[in-house]
Amino acid sequence: MTTTREKAGETGRVKPGESLIEVNHLTMDYKTKEGRVSAVSDVTFHLKAGDSLGLVGESGCGKTSVALTLLRLQASNAEITGGEILLGGVNLLDLSEEEMRLHRWSDISMVFQGAMNAWNPVYRIGEQIREALDLHWPVKLTHEQSRERIAELFELVGLPPEAMDRYPHEFSGGMRQRATIAMALSCNPQLIIADEPTTALDVIVQDQILKELKKVQAELGMSIIYISHDIAVIAEVTDHMGVMYAGKIVEYGGTDEIFATPRHPYAWLLLSSTPSITGPRRKLAPLVGEPPNLMKPPSGCRFHPRCPFATDQCAAEEPAMEDLGGGHLVACWNHEKVPVGLSETPKEDL
Ligand SMILES: Nc1ncnc2c1ncn2[C@@H]1O[C@H](COP(=O)(O)OP(=O)(O)OP(=O)(O)O)[C@@H](O)[C@H]1O
Ligand code: SF4
Ligand SMILES: [Mg+2]
Repeated sequence: MTTTREKAGETGRVKPGESLIEVNHLTMDYKTKEGRVSAVSDVTFHLKAGDSLGLVGESGCGKTSVALTLLRLQASNAEITGGEILLGGVNLLDLSEEEMRLHRWSDISMVFQGAMNAWNPVYRIGEQIREALDLHWPVKLTHEQSRERIAELFELVGLPPEAMDRYPHEFSGGMRQRATIAMALSCNPQLIIADEPTTALDVIVQDQILKELKKVQAELGMSIIYISHDIAVIAEVTDHMGVMYAGKIVEYGGTDEIFATPRHPYAWLLLSSTPSITGPRRKLAPLVGEPPNLMKPPSGCRFHPRCPFATDQCAAEEPAMEDLGGGHLVACWNHEKVPVGLSETPKEDL
């Protein structure tokens, strides 16, 4: 059986700028006693080797569900009802569990949400990373080779190599998250998915870790999918982004373009409700209401109960993704009504 790397040619990796992963119309429900939860609905995005993509949206919009499905680690009550996940042209959804294991960690790996708090307290950090290497590295490494590899990984993420002999409680939160990233990098994957990699950290450590991740990505030529509810984090580290609402991507495009001219009312409100340190002072627009219950998502456009631009059509018909040009896509009947620029209030009125 050949892995994605072997299929990709002599170098074993998809070349920068070539298509690495294509997610098309991915749809996934959770089956519960109360009914089906429509957690991922018709999600499409493409990522080239070396690029970074952000997925942003409020809690419960399906970000982690998408990520886990890419690794085929979705919960046991999940049912994928449609779509495909092409990695280097191979549909991961068609693979057996044994075949999938060849891609997990070596082609795609993940920094799991909350994983920095999941280290086993009774083993040294280095021993825990060695265990991952023993399981997933293509050949068996000697004790010395594992230590060399861990020292290399620690250097990449800004940790002193001697820290591998410490226990998790001897690490600060930032160090533990760096070690978690080192673990995800251990098998030199082509794609790393970082699910809320800095959420539990203070802003200074958050900034350091994001910079570190960007540097590592450039050095290794890796692709990254960053997942965050914090649109400012996505702005800092990604080239492209998808704004998710209630299981769907509602706006997709270049990060700079979406920040400059968000076209979906949800993206516009999300940005308008986010304070900016560098931009002009402005009154923050409130994002009122709660995301819907995905067991009974609203009819038509799932955002219509909270949308200030909603019309009768919005509750009746679901808007399709429309290409506004230059790869900027939006699913909204009334995107031309969304003001250009964020909700601004003159400085003297604040
Ligand atoms: N195993 C499960 N069974 C039933 N429902 C689930 C399960 N896992 C997640 N959900 C539901 O699926 C929806 C999407 O959850 P998911 O964790 O993907 O969201 P998220 O965007 O990652 O949220 P957060 O920002 O809080 O991490 C939510 O409504 C959640 O309650
Ligand atoms: S389709 Fe309608 S409800 Fe949905 S975001 Fe656009 S204007 Fe708002
Ligand atoms: Mg999540």
